[in-house]
Amino acid sequence: MSARAVVTAGTGGIGLETAKGLAERGYAVTVVGRNAERGARAVEEVASVATAAAPRFVAADLASLQEVRALAAQLATEGPLRVLVNNVGAMFEWRRQSVDGVEASFAVNHLSPYLLTELLLEQLRAGAPGRIVNVTSGAVGLAKRTFDSVEPPGGYYGFHWYGRAKLAHLIYTLDLAERLRGSQVAVFAADPGGAATAMTSGTMTSPKIVSPPLRLLWPLVRRKFERSTAAPASVAARSSVFAATDASLDGRTGILIGPETVPVPLPRGAEDPRALENVLRLSRRLAPV
Ligand SMILES: NC(=O)c1ccc[n+]([C@@H]2O[C@H](COP(=O)([O-])OP(=O)(O)OC[C@H]3O[C@@H](n4cnc5c(N)ncnc54)[C@H](OP(=O)(O)O)[C@@H]3O)[C@@H](O)[C@H]2O)c1
Repeated sequence: MSARAVVTAGTGGIGLETAKGLAERGYAVTVVGRNAERGARAVEEVASVATAAAPRFVAADLASLQEVRALAAQLATEGPLRVLVNNVGAMFEWRRQSVDGVEASFAVNHLSPYLLTELLLEQLRAGAPGRIVNVTSGAVGLAKRTFDSVEPPGGYYGFHWYGRAKLAHLIYTLDLAERLRGSQVAVFAADPGGAATAMTSGTMTSPKIVSPPLRLLWPLVRRKFERSTAAPASVAARSSVFAATDASLDGRTGILIGPETVPVPLPRGAEDPRALENVLRLSRRLAPV
């Protein structure tokens, strides 16, 4: 029987290409997304490259912690899991709250994959040797590194708040790798670099997403964004597929895989013990397992 893999936000963009990469390598892939029509199209596309088991779609809005819990409960009844790719991510031009009343960047980019992972640990241990891959972003480099509360001090700038939520998740990822060391479940972060997807084309055209000093340089910043998100999603998915499957990573854990599919140094703040303590405190309070 084929080993099971789950890819969240796997019905479009980088997630769909990741799902195809795993299906090509023989995994029975479940793609998670909100929209059933896009889900059906994704299943067809993944099936066209699958070498072993048929893929399938499960619907869940991962911006809702209740839906994350329901998804985990469903996946948990289906037995051992070899690979979990937490690919879901979102950037918001305007400040908004999730249905749970939590700032949306933090909710979607950190709390949701945090909760899903914690709720599936038993299935991942049962499927070992296996891997958890958490998709990160170069945006962590421009993030405020304080996590005393969900919302950082200062104004709302979508790109920076997105990066900060991704940093929270990277901090959690590295801690989880240590917790699971010796369990045969490895934990990696994967940086896709950039790609032209619904997320980037929908949000990266407005100067509102960056802080006032960067707004002054908007033509330059915008050109940098355009250049760095010009790649196809299939190229951006390579880091996740590599992190999830490559034999060169056997026996390793707690590593960041860069866009060129090689381990890269961790960004500043990723191993800060105070930030970790605060991220864990917020996560446990807002998304109790
Ligand atoms: N694109 C880039 O340049 C870039 C750079 C660095 C990091 N990343 C990271 O890479 C990952 C994938 O990015 P992407 O650009 O491919 O994103 P995307 O274009 O927004 O991804 C589309 C996929 O996300 C799903 N999705 C969005 N919100 C969802 C939600 N609340 N619940 C469930 N599914 C949801 C969509 O499902 P529906 O079709 O059902 O809505 C679709 O399958 C993210 O973690 C992102 O932060 C991207």
